[in-house]
Amino acid sequence: MDFLKPRYMPMNRRRRIYEGKAKILYEGPEPGTLIQHFKDDATAFNAKKHEVVDGKGVLNNRISEYIFQHLNDIGVPTHFIRRLNMREQLIREVEIVPLEVVVRNVAAGSLSTRLGIEEGTQLPRSIIEFYYKNDALNDPMVSEEHITAFGWATPQEIDDIMSLAIRVNDFLSGLFLGVGIRLVDFKMECGRLWENEMVRIVLADEISPDSCRLWDIKSNDKLDKDRFRRDMGGLVEAYSEVARRLGILSESDNPPPTAGPSLVKH
Ligand SMILES: Nc1ncnc2c1ncn2[C@@H]1O[C@H](COP(=O)(O)OP(=O)(O)OP(=O)(O)O)[C@@H](O)[C@H]1O
Ligand SMILES: [Mg+2]
Repeated sequence: MDFLKPRYMPMNRRRRIYEGKAKILYEGPEPGTLIQHFKDDATAFNAKKHEVVDGKGVLNNRISEYIFQHLNDIGVPTHFIRRLNMREQLIREVEIVPLEVVVRNVAAGSLSTRLGIEEGTQLPRSIIEFYYKNDALNDPMVSEEHITAFGWATPQEIDDIMSLAIRVNDFLSGLFLGVGIRLVDFKMECGRLWENEMVRIVLADEISPDSCRLWDIKSNDKLDKDRFRRDMGGLVEAYSEVARRLGILSESDNPPPTAGPSLVKH
């Protein structure tokens, strides 16, 4: 009897496709779909630093959902279909392009260290950088020459990735500016999605305070994973603040309860 069948397999019977540092991918309910599960694990410096931060997965799931849904709505293609529950979302399976695409608006992190530019310096224009996704090599920075020579992406795909990156950066900069946050930089991943004989580049993975640098406009307070990288504490409080400003957490949840974030139900 069809109507008695559960819509999703129970957790323990699902096939696990991949377990990474921050997320788990499970086989989805239909071919070509996956379930992306957000864990509470926080890692930095290629997992040399690791901690479990209660509530982080729930917040990243909600913040990433909010961003991907808005991008879908304005016609930026993404893998996101819909959120399923507090920690999981349904996504389209893509073939991940093995690149971490970093967009920078303000100098920080490795750009400041490598080039000796003081953190917080506004860049003359937005800069896109590519890193080869390879933990064993510590995700080294690569140029378009390396990408095409080694066949990680074609010149046309690099063009598509760069236009996608610019559109995402424009959208995110405006979104965050509107809630008093400066988008210093962010990392994104792209994938190839096949749709009736056609293949196109779409935004994949997640966009959350784990993968962005977000500074309060007035105080320059960090509202992102640098709080963890730099042992500043207050990670969940900072992520909750981002969610609250985006209107995902209700006003009454500020400051966040110690039991963990409570979420607005739609
Ligand atoms: N739509 C998608 N289809 C297939 N794989 C995806 C999709 N979106 C994201 N991924 C991949 O799923 C994984 C998510 O797990 P997680 O972010 O925890 O990985 P990670 O530990 O950061 O490792 P990695 O270096 O592979 O990103 C990543 O490898 C990411 O590239
Ligand atoms: Mg990752």
